[in-house]
Amino acid sequence: MLEIENFDEIIIANWKLYGSSSFIEEYLDQIKFYGSKSQGRCVIICPPSLYINQINYKNVFVGAQDCSAHIEGSYTGEISAKILKDIGCQFCIVGHSERRMLFNEDSQIVGKKILNCFQNNIIPIFCVGENLQQKKEKLTKDIIKEQIIKSLPNNANKKNIIIAYEPVWAIGSGLTPDLDEISKIHMFIKDNILKDKNIKILYGGSVKANNCKDILNLEGVDGLLVGGASLNIDEFNKIIGT
Ligand code: PGA
Repeated sequence: MLEIENFDEIIIANWKLYGSSSFIEEYLDQIKFYGSKSQGRCVIICPPSLYINQINYKNVFVGAQDCSAHIEGSYTGEISAKILKDIGCQFCIVGHSERRMLFNEDSQIVGKKILNCFQNNIIPIFCVGENLQQKKEKLTKDIIKEQIIKSLPNNANKKNIIIAYEPVWAIGSGLTPDLDEISKIHMFIKDNILKDKNIKILYGGSVKANNCKDILNLEGVDGLLVGGASLNIDEFNKIIGT
């Protein structure tokens, strides 16, 4: 399996339900990333699953945005971790807040998806984060702890999983927590929740070219999960080139 622990930073593009063949052609024509595939900065593009095989660019990895909680069977419309692996996918976002909210995914389902990724040597990018109400009620740490404890398998470690802290209220809103709040939450997860403190934790939620550097420099932040800004190649080039 890919040795993710050797990378200094991991930057992920989450395209959500956007993109087309022509968009991908233009994007790959314009992307500028000269990193290596084994150390330094790791860039992963997560397009809608049908386009996974079209993301063919030197030094850039490809990931899925979700996988089925099932392994195989009569589940019309689903895509399994096994199929993702078969088509060459090495990463898969799991438990994104949009899946939790819009598709009713609870921590048990998220946990199953993580296990399915493990079984197929796919590295899950496991998303956690509080919503605005929970933040107002000062429940951020409790919520994150509960999400992690309920879904993270015992054998999770720095080699087989990446965590993404994404405050739900920061996603697509243009708002981000204060820098030191981001760092504190990341350190809280490492120091108080995880058995393996070297599991990489990315920050996601309104990351842009103009705030990525400050966030990346924070203690406890090992990379970024970028949504909206990853759809604009000029903006994304600035982020991966920072
Ligand atoms: P955003 O999305 O960068 O558009 O806020 C992040 C995400 O949903 O992963």
